[in-house]
Amino acid sequence: MIHALSGSPTLKKFPQARGRTQSEQCPDSVVLLGRHAPPIPARVADLIQEPRLQLGGFPSRRWVVTPHIEASHRQQVEHGPEPELRDSASSELKTLIGPLLHRRYGHRQGMDIAELGPATSTTVAATLSHATHRYLAVDLSEPYLEKQQEFLAQDTATQCYAVKGDSYALPIQDGKADLIVTSCHPPFVSASTQDKAIALDEVWRTLKEDGEFVLFPYDPQGRGADMAPLLEARFEIVDQSQQRPDRVAVVLKKRPLIYGASG
Ligand SMILES: C[S@@+](CC[C@H](N)C(=O)[O-])C[C@H]1O[C@@H](n2cnc3c(N)ncnc32)[C@H](O)[C@@H]1O
Repeated sequence: MIHALSGSPTLKKFPQARGRTQSEQCPDSVVLLGRHAPPIPARVADLIQEPRLQLGGFPSRRWVVTPHIEASHRQQVEHGPEPELRDSASSELKTLIGPLLHRRYGHRQGMDIAELGPATSTTVAATLSHATHRYLAVDLSEPYLEKQQEFLAQDTATQCYAVKGDSYALPIQDGKADLIVTSCHPPFVSASTQDKAIALDEVWRTLKEDGEFVLFPYDPQGRGADMAPLLEARFEIVDQSQQRPDRVAVVLKKRPLIYGASG
């Protein structure tokens, strides 16, 4: 159930990265986890959990945000032009995913929504922004999350939070999310089949029994051929939207049990 909360997240000013303490460097709506992190804010404490796997404890073939990458992301968000950081009018987030979300969920209230790997994108949060929803961004890049939350606050999107976390070990409690959305997210696009299965298991674990997963792009005839059996074992396709046959957004409903031995 959703708490009725008011207003958009308050943001602290962003001092330069170097020399900042952890609590100074984040918008209030960005949650960091780990031994030295502040407690999880009460407003999202029933949704977020420490990941079961430790960040960084993965085989090196998986992408992680090294200090070098983080520094380049920070440069990008501090100096990059805003139009490049925001979703352009012609992006599929704006032309395909936003309209799909509006059509399918625009009438709903009280949803807990998670977006995996949004970077600085705001379309999903802004499209579904409602005082009775909670929106949680999960991304490994803290600079991206800070910038995304700054944009959302400027746009007066409500109830938006972000947590620095990994899609292979989601920092979300079991069975909590009504909706999980992901667009162009490496764990579901370019990862190994084994890693895709791990990421899909995490989505399955964190969705409510009647929860839905919006996945883009899904290309079962092409690069995403290995996804079809993985999805079939965990989810049922209940809706889809496309502008090109190889750029399909699918809406997946969670099956009661994962079955089969397809990964
Ligand atoms: C290509 S961007 C996608 C941005 C946006 N969703 C879009 O469609 O334009 C990929 C994002 O995924 C994040 N990312 C990559 N691997 C991740 C992982 N294992 N867990 C969480 N975030 C990850 C990156 O930090 C980056 O912000």
